[in-house]
Amino acid sequence: MTETSLEGMADSLLGKIALISGGGAGIGRAIALAYGRCGAIVVVAEKDAGRADNIRAELDAAKVTNIVACADVTDADAVDSLIAKIKDGFGRLDILVNNVGDFLGVHKPFAETTRAEWSALYGVNLEHIFLMTHAALPLLRKGENASIINVSTIEAFRGIPNFSVYSAFKTGITGFTKSLALELAPENIRVNAIAPETTETEQIQILKWIPEEHQHMVKRWMPLGRYGQPDDAAGAALFLASSLSSWITGTTINLDGGALAAGGWRQTADGTWTNRPVITAHAHKA
Ligand SMILES: NC(=O)c1ccc[n+]([C@@H]2O[C@H](COP(=O)([O-])OP(=O)(O)OC[C@H]3O[C@@H](n4cnc5c(N)ncnc54)[C@H](O)[C@@H]3O)[C@@H](O)[C@H]2O)c1
Repeated sequence: MTETSLEGMADSLLGKIALISGGGAGIGRAIALAYGRCGAIVVVAEKDAGRADNIRAELDAAKVTNIVACADVTDADAVDSLIAKIKDGFGRLDILVNNVGDFLGVHKPFAETTRAEWSALYGVNLEHIFLMTHAALPLLRKGENASIINVSTIEAFRGIPNFSVYSAFKTGITGFTKSLALELAPENIRVNAIAPETTETEQIQILKWIPEEHQHMVKRWMPLGRYGQPDDAAGAALFLASSLSSWITGTTINLDGGALAAGGWRQTADGTWTNRPVITAHAHKA
């Protein structure tokens, strides 16, 4: 997120304590930096040591008070020890962003998936949200207008063939978000989610995956003309952490450039909207 786009948001998180999982890359990194620039004290849990070092250096350079722990949030002991560190340092937590998630390269028909893959996908997409939220709740209860933000995916709202198990756990996040929001509403702890469409990150290098000769069609493929950037997610996460969203709980913000609204509609090369198969000269069978 550029400094300019944060104008007006500066100091909106002044003095807040924010914990972000997977803050060493992609969406989590963008959220950590945006929160820091808006005045928060930033705690990051990042399992990759090199990425942890990098985000620590970036936060230091931006003069953001931070704790960056090289920690795996699927490990209950690691989660407990990080929460203990926050308790010792600050005695409370105001913002928890459960950002970690990964399809772990499991891209195949459901019939070919294994129980070991189901367990691994559960651990990295849903179980850590239970671990982190459960361990952090006592500190969130001491926080000021605390806000929990879970990172789901737009695929929780439509099908994604050959990623059935990943999509099941991501869909679970939206159910957990709604139910927990009701449980915690009487304590004024808000629980929301963000659901990104394809976003250019270390995990999803979408533009590298699209052959160059097809890249010009991205502006027709996505209604707003592009895939997401980590800062798109950071903007929504900032809104959900700030008092601007103080009457919003139990909801998910779709960050999708209009993709879900489009449903099966696409624009052809000349910009015409269609829901019919587009037969090009190349695709035409002789
Ligand atoms: N990028 C997309 O297109 C996209 C789309 C929809 C949803 N999402 C969701 O957004 C979130 C972030 O995705 P991203 O693309 O920025 O991912 P990313 O892989 O680029 O970054 C995630 C970071 O989390 C760290 N991490 C992974 N497992 C961890 C663990 N167990 N403990 C601590 N750190 C861990 C990684 O090392 C990495 O630095 C995920 O939940 C993902 O499912 C991403």
